Amino acid sequence: RAEAADELTRFPFPELTAAPDATIHVAEGHEAKVLISWGDPVLPGAPAFDPKAQTAAAQALQFGYNNDFVGFIPLGDGPDGAARGLLVVNHEYTNEELMFPGMVPQTPKNGFSGMTRELVDIEMAAHGGAVIEIRRGAEGWQVVPGSKYARRITAETPMALAGPAAGDARLKTHADPDGLSVKGMLNNCAGGITPWGTWLTCEENFNYYFSGTREGLPDAEALKRFGLPGNAFAWARHHDRFDMQKEPNEANRFGWVVEIDPFDPASTPRKRTAMGRFKHEGAAGIVNADGRYVAYQGDDQKMEHVYRFVTDARVDRADAAANRDILDAGTLAVAVFHADGSGEWRPLVQGEGPLTPEKGFATQADVLIHARLAASALGATRMDRPEDVEVNPQTGKVYVMLTANDTRTEAEVDGANPRAKNAFGHIVEITPKDGDHAGRAFTWEVLVRCGDPRVAEVGATFSPATSAHGWFANPDNCAVDHQGRLWVATDGNSHASTGRTDGVWGVETEGPGRGTAKRFFSVPIGAEMCGPYFTPDDATFFVAVQHPGESEDGRVSSFDDPSTRWPDFEDGMPPRPSVVAITRIGGGKVGT
Ligand code: FEO
Ligand code: CA
Ligand code: CA
Ligand code: CA
Repeated sequence: RAEAADELTRFPFPELTAAPDATIHVAEGHEAKVLISWGDPVLPGAPAFDPKAQTAAAQALQFGYNNDFVGFIPLGDGPDGAARGLLVVNHEYTNEELMFPGMVPQTPKNGFSGMTRELVDIEMAAHGGAVIEIRRGAEGWQVVPGSKYARRITAETPMALAGPAAGDARLKTHADPDGLSVKGMLNNCAGGITPWGTWLTCEENFNYYFSGTREGLPDAEALKRFGLPGNAFAWARHHDRFDMQKEPNEANRFGWVVEIDPFDPASTPRKRTAMGRFKHEGAAGIVNADGRYVAYQGDDQKMEHVYRFVTDARVDRADAAANRDILDAGTLAVAVFHADGSGEWRPLVQGEGPLTPEKGFATQADVLIHARLAASALGATRMDRPEDVEVNPQTGKVYVMLTANDTRTEAEVDGANPRAKNAFGHIVEITPKDGDHAGRAFTWEVLVRCGDPRVAEVGATFSPATSAHGWFANPDNCAVDHQGRLWVATDGNSHASTGRTDGVWGVETEGPGRGTAKRFFSVPIGAEMCGPYFTPDDATFFVAVQHPGESEDGRVSSFDDPSTRWPDFEDGMPPRPSVVAITRIGGGKVGT
């Protein structure tokens, strides 16, 4: 079967067959090296990482926790011929039980009981993102110390609210009576790099950080739909803005796409409200044939939607600065998948269709802040947790990762979400009509239903050429390399659920091998696979190992007794989320 997959796919590497264990594995012929880990220095003056003596001040200068999205922006070759580039990385969230000694392992409810002000401030400094400069020399990729580009973004970094909702009454707080500036970004999951060289980083489960109750607050339906307040972290104990009763509008200032100029560490990140407010997974796009930028976006929650944003203006390829605020004006639309394989994008435009003042949408700000409610009013299809959405520029086809949805009932099954109690997820392929990413119409097909194809009741549809190691569950992040090959990273595989850890699989989308997957990389137990991003020459594949050693399968894991100590494997050192650079031994394109 492995031979069949070799013949039928564009993934000729020897398939990875490693059993789940405490470390990473990559397909033979490749090398996977840790580039940077939680606690490593990013900014000048950063102290050496000491997990037992950590401070918020140190963390703000060091690489943050739970690296998720990774984007690479090439800077060309240095004087010594070494390749250089900027790496931008999201720090999605924190695991107190793995970061701090003595945390009593329990299901967090407003955080662990021992969360002091200093520990909360460490967490806030470990959120956000990082910009690092890296270079590839004889020793492989390394971080450039003292780079002028180096930056840490945290939950306290001042940001601007931009676009149609900026200044709206719902975005005003005691600290910001104008509704124009906000401190920090939260739970940034995936993202994108724009053709004009900026970093789009997307706020996902922002509800977790807010505490209190919904009682007596306005917009109850919208709050409920977001699961606000999420009561998962202890931040409101020490920072009033996260207490829903004390600052009811603060949560409205999160759930946006944030645009950051990685070339200017002094620049103010801008929350692009025109792109809508929901639990943004990512925002990856393409310049449409007519020159406008199109960003596809998933809203990662069970029964939520797939969105698309099209700029009004055309991208100026000659002058990056001319695109500075291009994301402030455009049309947000939501996907409707019809049973016959056709589909349409319905625009979220105030005054059109049901988006009227009578229905609660008096302004475009109403539509954007409550994008989920507007999408529902338009009849958007309720999906099985839409995660990354990526375009294959060679074919114009768009791939939607749908992680899982164990609550869908038989009655709620539809063509684009074909399984009830969908434990393993699936991938939908969208083909824009006439290749127009800004047009209204598309067709769609399920590329693959995930899970073990040898177990009939799972209903998986990997091609028969897929080996026992080749199938996977829970697609989350993805990347298309410059040869047009789709790579899928997973979140949710565990020894108990699938007999494998999360990792990266190559998935053939074309020809007779369509729907064949091959296993390429695996993470340590407890980890999730994030990041995947290729350099322009496909010679390096960056992946992000998130929360190695998180509790799973009934194994409670903590700082004091972690299930793995990857990547250091030193006594007293907890596992550390890390970005890994994968290259081919002897050079060449990864995965060939
Ligand atoms: Fe943060 Fe949708 O995964
Ligand atoms: Ca993630
Ligand atoms: Ca994700
Ligand atoms: Ca996920």
